[in-house]
Amino acid sequence: MSFKPLRKAVLPVAGLGTRFLPATKSMPKEMLTVVDRPLIQYAVDEARAAGIEQFCMVTGRGKTALIDHFDVSYELEATLKARSKLEALEALEALRLQPGAITTVRQQEPLGLGHAIWCARTFIGDDPFAILLPDDLVLSKTPCMQQLADAYKETEGSVVAVVEVPPDQTNKYGILKTGSDDGRLVEVTGLVEKPKPADAPSNLSIIGRYVLLPEVLGYLTKMERGAGNEVQLTDAMAKMIGHSPFHGLRFEGERFDCGDKIGFLEAQIAFSLERPDLADDVRAFLKKYISEIA
Ligand code: G1P
Repeated sequence: MSFKPLRKAVLPVAGLGTRFLPATKSMPKEMLTVVDRPLIQYAVDEARAAGIEQFCMVTGRGKTALIDHFDVSYELEATLKARSKLEALEALEALRLQPGAITTVRQQEPLGLGHAIWCARTFIGDDPFAILLPDDLVLSKTPCMQQLADAYKETEGSVVAVVEVPPDQTNKYGILKTGSDDGRLVEVTGLVEKPKPADAPSNLSIIGRYVLLPEVLGYLTKMERGAGNEVQLTDAMAKMIGHSPFHGLRFEGERFDCGDKIGFLEAQIAFSLERPDLADDVRAFLKKYISEIA
């Protein structure tokens, strides 16, 4: 296959967010906010910073707020203008994508991440594409997706972002079997979805950032069920190994699992400490709490 630039991203956002009930009863979990931006916006901003121009959200029922978030809001914008709230207006304008740059498809049944990606097959076509799982936030100097896009250019194959996890947590993630390894890029020789610690081929786990060649769709079409009786993306990716280059990238940065309450709370602190307008105040209240528990 001749090399094609990375321009497309798929955002699987059909999940119910049961771990955050009642917050997510009538609001998509991807609208949960870290500091003052919803998770979905972090994912879109990160992808745009990597040169991605076209987006497909794989949604389900009750996810309209996600689509509205990227739409023009005439009333709000006119009101802000009339009140000369220019900073707020700019924040909204920065959000706006090119007309037609965002599309949605529905995943009618929760059959797994692999099935969600397959639902975006018409959008993906014959192009390489990124996947960003908005639950995973990455704080880094260079946006994580930019790091993956660079690795994709370098290897001209599929690349997944990876981190080492404690050996007793392999059953929560897709895990790599590794070949040659230069400390940054690691050759993937096998992939297993959520193996028990005793069966895990390593403790290098996939986080929610992928760049994949479109050939993965051919394997997803078979709709084979894997771990949890779901159609697993990891299983389809495993079948690509040997046919095209496949690497894991130990990215620079820290990942926060915002699908989990503790990870979400930690992200609030870490991201607010990065904000010049908030950092001093956050540091001050953290000191107060620390002195109280010390
Ligand atoms: C999914 C993938 C898994 C990956 C994880 C990253 O799992 O199936 O391979 O490691 O995302 O967050 P989920 O979190 O949907 O169970």
